[in-house]
Amino acid sequence: MTAGTLPPVIAIDGPSASGKGTVAQRVATALGYHYLDSGALYRVVAVAAKQSGIAWNDGAALAPLAAALDVRFNSDEIYLNQSVVTNSVRSEDGGIGASQVAVWPAVRAALLDRQRAFRQAPGLVADGRDMGSAVFPDARLKIYLTADAETRAERRYKQLIGKGMDANMAALLQELRARDERDSQRAAAPLKKTDDARLLDTTHLSIDAAVEAVLARYKAVTQL
Ligand code: C5P
Repeated sequence: MTAGTLPPVIAIDGPSASGKGTVAQRVATALGYHYLDSGALYRVVAVAAKQSGIAWNDGAALAPLAAALDVRFNSDEIYLNQSVVTNSVRSEDGGIGASQVAVWPAVRAALLDRQRAFRQAPGLVADGRDMGSAVFPDARLKIYLTADAETRAERRYKQLIGKGMDANMAALLQELRARDERDSQRAAAPLKKTDDARLLDTTHLSIDAAVEAVLARYKAVTQL
C-alpha cells in the first residue's frame, strides 16, 4: 500500500488521565474506525516484566520481552499469554511501570510495528503520547488533549473508585505529576504538543463536548 492509500489516522496524544482514551474510543465508534490504546501496550510490557522477574529499568531485558509479547485485546479484556490481566494492566502500578519501561528506545522500537498494524480500513483513532510525532506522523488529524493536573487526578480518582479499586487523591495527584515529568523529560519520543497538533484543553469541557470538538475538526480537515 502506498502512503496515499493507507487508511486515515486520527492521533490523540496527551498526558495521563486527560480523558483521551474515552474521547478516542468514542470518536472511533462514531466514525466506525478501529481504536488503538497504545498505553495499554506499554502497560502490558510492565506487567509481563513483573511476571518474569525483569526490572522496569532493565532496558536490555525488556526489549526482547516487548518484541515477543503474546498479547490480545478482546472487547474489554486484555490477555497476556492467554490469561486475563486487565486489572493489573489498568492499575496505578501498571501505569507507573509503563512510564518506566517506555523510556527505553528499544522497547519503543519493539512496539512500533504492533501499533502500526492497527491501521486498518476504514480508519484508526490512536491514543497515546507519540501517536502524532512518531508512530503515525502522517496522521490526518493530530489532537493534543490535556487538562490541568488537579482535574485529571480527580477524574482518575472517580474512575478507579468506580471500578471498585483503591484510590487516594493526594497520592494520585503526586503520581500524575511524577508521570508527566517522566513522560515529558525522557529522551525517546517525549510527550509534547507538536506544531501540527491542535490543542484541546478539556479542563472545563465535558467528554461529549470534547468528542464533538474532535469530530468537527476531523470533518473540517477531510473536507479540505
Ligand atoms: O496512556 P496510559 O496512561 O495508559 O500510558 C501509560 C504510560 O505508557 C504513559 O505514562 C507513558 O509513559 C507510556 N506511553 C508512552 N507512549 C505511548 C503511550 C503510553 O510512552 N504512546
